[in-house]
Amino acid sequence: MSEPRQTFRYKKLADEIESRIHSGVYQPGEKLPSIRQLHSQMNLSISTIHQAYIELETTGLIEARPKSGYYVSPISLNRLKPPEFDKIPAAPQKVALGAMVNSVLAAINNPRMLPLGSSSVSSELLPCRHFTRMLKTVSVQEMKGLLSYSLTEGNPELRRQIALRTMGLPKGIGPADIVITNGCTEAVTLCLQAILRPGDTLAIETPTHFGFLQLLRSLGLMVVEVPTHPRHGVDIGELEKILKKTPVRACLFMPNFQNPLGALMPDEKKEELVNLLNRLEIPVIEDDICGEMYYEEKQRPSLLKHFDRKDLVLTCSSFSKILAPGLRIGWAIPGKRFKDEILRHKAGTTVATSTLDQALIARFLSEGAYDRHLRTLRQAIKSQTFKTAWAILKHFPADTRLALPRGGSLLWVRLDRGISSLDIYEKALAHHISILPGTVCSVSGQFGNYIRIGCGHPFTDETEKGIETLGALIDECLHKEVSQGAASVLS
Ligand SMILES: Cc1ncc(COP(=O)(O)O)c(C=O)c1O
Repeated sequence: MSEPRQTFRYKKLADEIESRIHSGVYQPGEKLPSIRQLHSQMNLSISTIHQAYIELETTGLIEARPKSGYYVSPISLNRLKPPEFDKIPAAPQKVALGAMVNSVLAAINNPRMLPLGSSSVSSELLPCRHFTRMLKTVSVQEMKGLLSYSLTEGNPELRRQIALRTMGLPKGIGPADIVITNGCTEAVTLCLQAILRPGDTLAIETPTHFGFLQLLRSLGLMVVEVPTHPRHGVDIGELEKILKKTPVRACLFMPNFQNPLGALMPDEKKEELVNLLNRLEIPVIEDDICGEMYYEEKQRPSLLKHFDRKDLVLTCSSFSKILAPGLRIGWAIPGKRFKDEILRHKAGTTVATSTLDQALIARFLSEGAYDRHLRTLRQAIKSQTFKTAWAILKHFPADTRLALPRGGSLLWVRLDRGISSLDIYEKALAHHISILPGTVCSVSGQFGNYIRIGCGHPFTDETEKGIETLGALIDECLHKEVSQGAASVLS
């Protein structure tokens, strides 16, 4: 029973040391107080202090030196500069995607590549043993039910479990408010189909999740791109300007750990955004697929739905980033206005979601293993993301910019303006490294000098070498650009 207090104490100490490092009280490379010193100064046990140091070590913030003690890492993440925020005005346009996107998708899913282009987490971080155990215990009697169709709205126990986890985010969400879907993709698709018709205009963030662009093209929608800040999300002032001159039918935003930016919209901005859209009666679909992937906060970030007073926010999510992407289980909380239309679309397209897959996740949640799994996963992705950021600082040219996220597993990296991320993407493939070139995250050809690096896989020597190779490729391109520039000046 003493575990939570113990956990709380070491975490508190780790947080305090971390904030001292970030504020510069402890400098890069400086020796930290020894465990014995802290033990005699503070009323804390040796094991609590040891645990705090181990936690900081896993994020790469400090390092242990044999027979010498703990030191602040010699490279400080404080040196990281976030990318500038370019507010490029955009007009509504059709979504056209080049053949490039297929090549990017193939590279991301190719198991022979170092998966820096992927936004998924490694299966090594998923509770594979637990799922194996559950499958082994299925009886023939149970299997009869599992081979039958599910209700269109989904397994009642799974909806109850999701409602329990959503408790208090918006008040009063119950199982009847939830529709289970084939991943977050189907949840977003159904919401779009319930609100928009082909040719209608949807406001999206720029940059955005490139999978959405494929979806929006196949639904025949027009899009208008709203400049999105690398730290704070959608720029509300820019959105307001767009709404004054463009008939926007709905918005699709990702306020929590946005893909690809990693941006987390603060609560006051969420409220301001929902107030604006409520006032103009514009529905907003929020993709919360990364909402549970926070590093530090004591609880998950809030939903736009929490601020909704007009039943105009439709929340979508799934277990794909945190538990089991292959089971394809997601959900929508569409509100009363759109729920029936969504169920009609689902019944007429995919009919229902896999009964077996829903039952497995429902059981995993009801056995109480989920929170433990999430705690471990959050620690792992934070550590991997920080270590990757460190490696980028070490190996990429000095003018590289990136914002360290507060959750999720993505780093959005700005390279020198003269660098083409498509060139780097192609050169990296030849070294069996996949990355996501920034251009595929926008319909207006922006972000040509950005790349997205995924940190969902354990950080190994191979990862470090991969980042080093990318740095060398970028350097090579930079030098070529400089020498070409010199040649054209001389000619
Ligand atoms: C931001 C975002 N939304 C939605 C999806 C799709 O999720 P799912 O696999 O649950 O359909 C992804 C997958 O990469 C994503 O990154």
